[in-house]
Amino acid sequence: MEVRLERLSKSFGANAVLKALDLTFPERKFITLLGPSGCGKTTLLRLISGLERASSGSIHFGSERVDHLAPADRNIAMVFQSYALYPTMDVAANIGYGLKVRGVPTSERVDKVGAVAKVLEIAHLLARKPRALSGGQRQRVALGRAMVRKPDIFLMDEPLSNLDAKLRATMRGELKRFHLDLQTTSIYVTHDQLEAMTMSDLVAVMNEGVVQQFATPEEVYDRPVNLFVAGFIGSPPMNFCDVIVTEQAGRAALVLAGRSFPLPDHFNLSRLEEGRRLVLGIRPQDVVLAERDDPHAIPGSVWMVELIGSERLVEVEVAPKVRVCAEVKAEVRAVLDSPAAVAFNPAKIHLFDPKTGLALPRSDGPL
Ligand SMILES: Nc1ncnc2c1ncn2[C@@H]1O[C@H](COP(=O)(O)OP(=O)(O)OP(=O)(O)O)[C@@H](O)[C@H]1O
Ligand SMILES: [Mg+2]
Repeated sequence: MEVRLERLSKSFGANAVLKALDLTFPERKFITLLGPSGCGKTTLLRLISGLERASSGSIHFGSERVDHLAPADRNIAMVFQSYALYPTMDVAANIGYGLKVRGVPTSERVDKVGAVAKVLEIAHLLARKPRALSGGQRQRVALGRAMVRKPDIFLMDEPLSNLDAKLRATMRGELKRFHLDLQTTSIYVTHDQLEAMTMSDLVAVMNEGVVQQFATPEEVYDRPVNLFVAGFIGSPPMNFCDVIVTEQAGRAALVLAGRSFPLPDHFNLSRLEEGRRLVLGIRPQDVVLAERDDPHAIPGSVWMVELIGSERLVEVEVAPKVRVCAEVKAEVRAVLDSPAAVAFNPAKIHLFDPKTGLALPRSDGPL
């Protein structure tokens, strides 16, 4: 079922938490709300579920306006971070509770609970109480309770955040798999970008109650619309450096730390913009360590070296307090304080206006 938000706002007292959101979540998609703590993700999910009332604006499921409906009348299922299982009921009763309150007969209920438990591989746990389950098992029970009702929309608020890293990775795959099988519109809240990037069809990157970008994981990664999205998505974070537009051999170039290099082909800046200040963004994965006599490389000295498994992060200081991080193979050696130089993959250079924070228009269009 499609979910549409129109000019949706929510304030708690003087605190404007969501600011006039206009968004359409297409049906059958897996959509992630991604953003830092306090940006309004849970609040938005609670508005969609009906647990919270909007200050203004409207919410539509398909062609029906739902914001006046109680949660029970919206045919949604919600999975919380805390799982919120009933401690005195066994697993079967927990999963079947929503069916029971809707008056589904016992035999039908047993069948449905059994089928869901089988899919989730918890059929052997049906007689246990939640306290006798591991975190991952409780997680599955919470999911089972949501799935058994065949809701129009799944709402999930950081359902994996209480699990250890290994189980989280497994559950990421399983959740994605469930979604592919069930094709129920799913809205998933997380502040973990890996979850957002791996599981979603579409990601809404939020900050301070505003959706900064709503696009595919590929787009938010390769075509961030502003400095916030560029800096929030990607690990280690994108490097940002101040540059100045200049002219070199009749065409536009960029000056960074006293070195100039050609403006990448995917930008069109007229020579009139000479002297304009911009912010250059480049991901550590798109920076290489170069020879110091490479004319387009920027020389400096090694400021920090960190091994992160199969890769090594090398931070090169190219001017006082201006450091560029390169992610290189672990075999590449770099000695602290020794001379080094960095070069950028020109196709991967991002440029932003420092005043507005917006990405400069590109001549190569969308992905
Ligand atoms: N019931 C409430 N009363 C007053 N303020 C609230 C209430 N619920 C949320 N807020 C405020 O709204 C803002 C957004 O909170 P919300 O829980 O939506 O953030 P979040 O993005 O889910 O963060 P996190 O990642 O930490 O869960 C915060 O400033 C929070 O303090
Ligand atoms: Mg939250």
